[in-house]
Amino acid sequence: MSRITLITSGKGGVGKTTAAAAIGAGLAAAGKSTAVVDLDLGLRNLDVALGLETQVFWHIGDVLKGSISLKEALVESERYPHLMLLAAAQTVRQETLTKESLQRVLAELSGMAEHVLIDSPAGIGAYFQMILPLADEGIVVTAPVVSAVRDADKVLHLMEEAGVRKRSVIVNGVRPELLRTGAMMQPADITDVLGVELLGVIPDDDAVISCANEGRPVSGTKTPAGQAYDRIIRRLLGENVPIPPIKKKKGWFRRR
Ligand SMILES: Nc1ncnc2c1ncn2[C@@H]1O[C@H](COP(=O)(O)OP(=O)(O)OP(=O)(O)O)[C@@H](O)[C@H]1O
Ligand SMILES: [Mg+2]
Repeated sequence: MSRITLITSGKGGVGKTTAAAAIGAGLAAAGKSTAVVDLDLGLRNLDVALGLETQVFWHIGDVLKGSISLKEALVESERYPHLMLLAAAQTVRQETLTKESLQRVLAELSGMAEHVLIDSPAGIGAYFQMILPLADEGIVVTAPVVSAVRDADKVLHLMEEAGVRKRSVIVNGVRPELLRTGAMMQPADITDVLGVELLGVIPDDDAVISCANEGRPVSGTKTPAGQAYDRIIRRLLGENVPIPPIKKKKGWFRRR
């Protein structure tokens, strides 16, 4: 059985789906069979982030309803032969969506893949709290700003209460010039406040946006964000990879 990792955040729009796609693709590229599950029900972004949206015929709602098997619902990626996606439903009948039914699907999935990653909605709502205890590990993505870090702190406490023992944080969207002026929080200060391991620091990088537009995960690309994700993937695979100092962006002075 593989471990189930929930990728989440307190605030929305901080880069969870980008992280799930990048890490999922990166683990698969490293030869690890990986299943990514979109539990951001109703919105469904992960298939787009992976460039798989035209191949999604079934989704988790169909599996929960029992109209299709999990195996049939999984979308296999041609670009990443070890990667599978279980897409989110746009709508799910409430009666089929229970902690137990989700647990059954995730347990089956964790028997099929070495890594199971869940892209989740942001926040602290009832649905979010229902899915929290299903995870063995939690990765909280935060922007390096006070309000996002405060919300990340809340989510990390909920995770702890739900029994998610291994918790870490990704600081995403770092802009060196704003770190320098103090307008953005230093990643080390963020982990001091949150009291969890710093899994990685991702710079604000236009490449993330162009990759997203092309339906391509940013990991494995020769871009600052891509390389930062590659380091995260190596850390997840057990390598000791230090977090390098944050470099100034080329042409950063244009933003001053
Ligand atoms: N490091 C980064 N540099 C630049 N843009 C980024 C970075 N990370 C994410 N983005 C962009 O920010 C936007 C939000 O990212 P994403 O959809 O991954 O966030 P999310 O947390 O999943 O959002 P939601 O809460 O709506 O599900 C996207 O347009 C994405 O391309
Ligand atoms: Mg998302």
